[in-house]
Amino acid sequence: MEAGRSAVDAVIRRLFTWPPGASRARARAAAAATAELDRKQAMFRDELEQRLQVQRQLRESEARVRAIVDSAAIVLFAIDRDGAITFSAGVGPDPLGKKPGEAVGWSAADLFVEHPRVVEGIRQSLSGIEGRAELTQGERTFSFSLAPFRDAAGNTAGAIVVAMDVTEGRRTEAALRQSVETLKQVDQNRRALLRRLVNAQEAERRAIASDIHDDSIQSMFAVGLRLFSLRESMHDAAQIEQVDRLQQNVQQSTDRLRHLLFELRPAALDEGGLPAALRQYLDTMKQETGIEVELQTALEHNPASETQVIAYRIAQEVLANVRKHARARRVECAVSAVDDGVLTRIVDNGVGFDSGRNGSVPGHLGLIAMRERAEMAGGWFRITSSAGQGCVVEYWIPDAREVVSNAA
Ligand SMILES: Nc1ncnc2c1ncn2[C@@H]1O[C@H](COP(=O)(O)OP(=O)(O)OP(=O)(O)O)[C@@H](O)[C@H]1O
Ligand SMILES: [Mg+2]
Repeated sequence: MEAGRSAVDAVIRRLFTWPPGASRARARAAAAATAELDRKQAMFRDELEQRLQVQRQLRESEARVRAIVDSAAIVLFAIDRDGAITFSAGVGPDPLGKKPGEAVGWSAADLFVEHPRVVEGIRQSLSGIEGRAELTQGERTFSFSLAPFRDAAGNTAGAIVVAMDVTEGRRTEAALRQSVETLKQVDQNRRALLRRLVNAQEAERRAIASDIHDDSIQSMFAVGLRLFSLRESMHDAAQIEQVDRLQQNVQQSTDRLRHLLFELRPAALDEGGLPAALRQYLDTMKQETGIEVELQTALEHNPASETQVIAYRIAQEVLANVRKHARARRVECAVSAVDDGVLTRIVDNGVGFDSGRNGSVPGHLGLIAMRERAEMAGGWFRITSSAGQGCVVEYWIPDAREVVSNAA
């Protein structure tokens, strides 16, 4: 106690016995130390201010994340690198039946113990790999999106998991898939029906044609022969003239029947396919009307017979229109293989007409029937014309063979 007091006294003594120069130096050192202290205090205040601001920003961005997550009806988890849940938010249907925030503190592996795919996804994302997983709970399906998050050094610091209730989406998807299947089925049925229709129509035409050929034309031929014999035995000039006229009538009727035969089922269609049948039709048309015709065909292989028959029947209708309405001097016809089908283009240089939106005219069925034939076969039909500009008809029929092999 005594020794302590004497030490303090010694310091006081030294203070008061210092030379004046030493006292000034000490004062300067003290002022410098105070200034340094002030600077450090100011730095500390700034740092504190910055930290508070960062914390405020963090809270704000967390609130924003919560707001976004809540409005998007999703559940969001943050998982640290040890697999513990550090953040959970969202108002969407929770796959685990927990309220927002209740999962914090849990181990993700424990929380999703019944859903190994999700646990595996979390494990992968904690090792830096993004992933997806699906979880089904009762009637509901949840889609999990799992992504690693990294610290400033680029190391995986944890994982972010977003769970979304996709039950309605999956149901809609399933309903859509079902509708597509039904549509495909309807389309296949429609095509099969068309095939049967075309085949039945063609079979009927062929039957009528062979009846005309084997019966009607033969009978007319027999009548012609009898008239010839009759004429040979006649001497009366007036009667001979009558028989001559009858013979002419018989010949004209036979010609008409042959024409009908050709319209019903040109033999060329069976023998040489679409190009040969069109060539024959155009040549006959030229003979009968004087219209110049041109045909270009570029089919690499022979399309299915029903495709050729449909394309031919539409061409027949188009060319009948040219004969009936166009007053054309020339008609050009081109057939080519396009996109696994047959594209036909028929152009006339006649008077044309206002083809409007789809070219059909009320009460006239030709164009409607052509379009329907093309569309029922899975193809398309287009007519473009205006007064004085001739007419362009284009249609494409898919090759039934390709359709069948594509469907198989
Ligand atoms: N190449 C063409 N040139 C000029 N007009 C045409 C041509 N093709 C069609 N048309 C016009 O389009 C109309 C509709 O043709 P569409 O084939 O539908 O009927 P249609 O030939 O009059 O009768 P049908 O029902 O017997 O075929 C025709 O009446 C005609 O006015
Ligand atoms: Mg017509």
